[in-house]
Amino acid sequence: MSGTEALSQLQEIPADVVNLADFEPHARAALSEANWAYLNGGAGDELTLRANRAAWDGLRLQPRVLRDLAGGHTRSTLLGRELAQPVLLAPIAYQRLAHADGELACAYAAAAQQAGMVLSAQSSMAMEGVARAFQDEPGSGPLWFQLYWRDDRDFMLQLLRRVEAAGFEALVLTVDAPVHGARDRERRAGFKLPDDVRAVNLGGIKKALKLQPGQSELFDGLLPRAATWAEIDWLRAHSHLPLLLKGLSHPDDAREAVARGVAGLIVSNHGGRTLDTLPATADLLPQVRAAVGPDLPLLVDGGIRRGSDVLKALALGADAVLLGRPYVHALATAGALGVARALRLLRDEFEIAMALCGCKTLDDIGPAQLWTKAP
Ligand SMILES: Cc1cc2nc3c(=O)[nH]c(=O)nc-3n(C[C@H](O)[C@H](O)[C@H](O)COP(=O)(O)O)c2cc1C
Repeated sequence: MSGTEALSQLQEIPADVVNLADFEPHARAALSEANWAYLNGGAGDELTLRANRAAWDGLRLQPRVLRDLAGGHTRSTLLGRELAQPVLLAPIAYQRLAHADGELACAYAAAAQQAGMVLSAQSSMAMEGVARAFQDEPGSGPLWFQLYWRDDRDFMLQLLRRVEAAGFEALVLTVDAPVHGARDRERRAGFKLPDDVRAVNLGGIKKALKLQPGQSELFDGLLPRAATWAEIDWLRAHSHLPLLLKGLSHPDDAREAVARGVAGLIVSNHGGRTLDTLPATADLLPQVRAAVGPDLPLLVDGGIRRGSDVLKALALGADAVLLGRPYVHALATAGALGVARALRLLRDEFEIAMALCGCKTLDDIGPAQLWTKAP
């Protein structure tokens, strides 16, 4: 990793870490109960959180043998940019809760591993520094910025100009969280954002809600100010950056998004943090691919923990995946080195899975890699 002078001393990776899940107990030990609940929890009874994992686990791969795989690789392209593997770090808020080096550490790690990165609107570090860390590495992959809509066009315009000037290459509007999910685990643990961890890129004051007696804070306060399809058109008209939407899964929504000119979609249920009992993303992905046709860049996240999950996601129609909680566990365990190791482990596993399924490049991956019981 180049330019790591801005990071705290590089930490060692515990010897017992051989896959992504192995970071979890180390992260848990490093974090307070409340921060752990925020970073790892989900909504309600966490059924969707568990379903995401169970769905990848439930798919079986079909091996193929004796194929000539010499010269194979995991490289892929996304919106014209090359990645060493089809993996991006998902936008995760407030990463300084996990480690003092926060988003900067993740930027160095992703850039060094030629993975992509989507910086959260609620980054706890300035977007310009994170972008520089990423761009300083020769050959780094795509760097995108995630947005939440705010009903203040001047604020949004300033944010867009700043994002563009910092060199982000695409916008990701998250559309599945106009309101917070009921995150019981987090509330039980009494999580509060500490004073020194803030969404530092979102200055400006949110307009206070003015409600009449008997009005709902949600339906009369928040939702009239939430994004609708009209705001998608507005964003497209006010930035030259390609726009992706994150967090939709209904085929009609997907078709509407395509009709409005989005550059790509991310099938996501926010890692089970919004509405509990939403279906697993592995189950939702095929219907979205079918709705948008073969060419639209389509990504998926939720429960990706293994290289074989990456292969399964591609077999179901994704072009790339986003990795969420596991890289935060790696960050909490060993900062930038931890995140870089997590990405490398995922890639090693993905290579093995490709090789044993007889796939030389990503073009070889399709539904044929998924085993189905003979009728
Ligand atoms: C602690 C935490 C914070 C998150 N913050 C954001 C965010 O700021 N913006 C966003 O679009 N998604 C956010 N997400 C959702 C992730 O981008 C991603 O969809 C999810 O974590 C993927 O599931 P996984 O954690 O099982 O891999 C967050 C998820 C977690 C766990």
